[in-house]
Amino acid sequence: MAGYDKRFSGRKFDEMREIEAKVGVIKRADGSALFRMGDTIAIAAVYGPRELHPRFLQNPETGILRCNYDMTSFSVPERKRPGPNRRGVEISLVTEKALLPVLELKQFPNAVVDVFVEIVQANAGTRCAGISAAALALAHAGIPMKDLVSAVSVGKVSGKVLIDLDKEEEDVDDATDIPIAMTGRKQEITLLQLDGNLAKKDLMEAIKLAKQGCEKINKIQQKALKDAYKSVKNE
Ligand code: CDP
Repeated sequence: MAGYDKRFSGRKFDEMREIEAKVGVIKRADGSALFRMGDTIAIAAVYGPRELHPRFLQNPETGILRCNYDMTSFSVPERKRPGPNRRGVEISLVTEKALLPVLELKQFPNAVVDVFVEIVQANAGTRCAGISAAALALAHAGIPMKDLVSAVSVGKVSGKVLIDLDKEEEDVDDATDIPIAMTGRKQEITLLQLDGNLAKKDLMEAIKLAKQGCEKINKIQQKALKDAYKSVKNE
């Protein structure tokens, strides 16, 4: 493909897809959230802190975080085989690593906080939407946190550095996709994955775009949390 002058979707290179965030979507969970970026929809549910079983897995020094990422069979055009797979194991692990730095689990020795991330519709960027949803659900569950975490993927498609790749862009032959998660206030990066080659200059530009994007996502997450408490006040 020659130069990429305009995105397939018509978005600007620094423009994310439409974002929607809501907490309290699963009543039986201790905390829950929905986070949508365009056609990618993630739902996160938090259970705990609760005593960890089997007991030999317990840590008397701190509570532990356990994330489980899954995509429903009907979330993608070509039916996904239900159940765990390698990709899910990897994404569960990076989700955990992206969230752990903001969590204060020391006050919950021998306990576990479980986070289930379910992708009900996928159009690229699912791990990022999942992380933003999980951070919201943890806050909604009242788990002590130093900060929120927001995530977005940035990358390079046909010579252009851009934010929030959709599936059409990810599928371009030379596309480089870099999922990035960061904390809200200090914008400390808690996840950065990069497969393939990218010049340092482009990487720096991409990180700058991710910072701008995460700042916007953080505001939307904060609003979702505030809205939930507004409705409680009015009940
Ligand atoms: O979703 P994310 O970009 O975090 O991870 P990926 O492994 O790079 O997957 C990119 C996209 O491929 C997903 O968001 C889905 O849209 C699609 N996909 C799919 O169609 N079928 C699968 N079994 C896995 C992914």
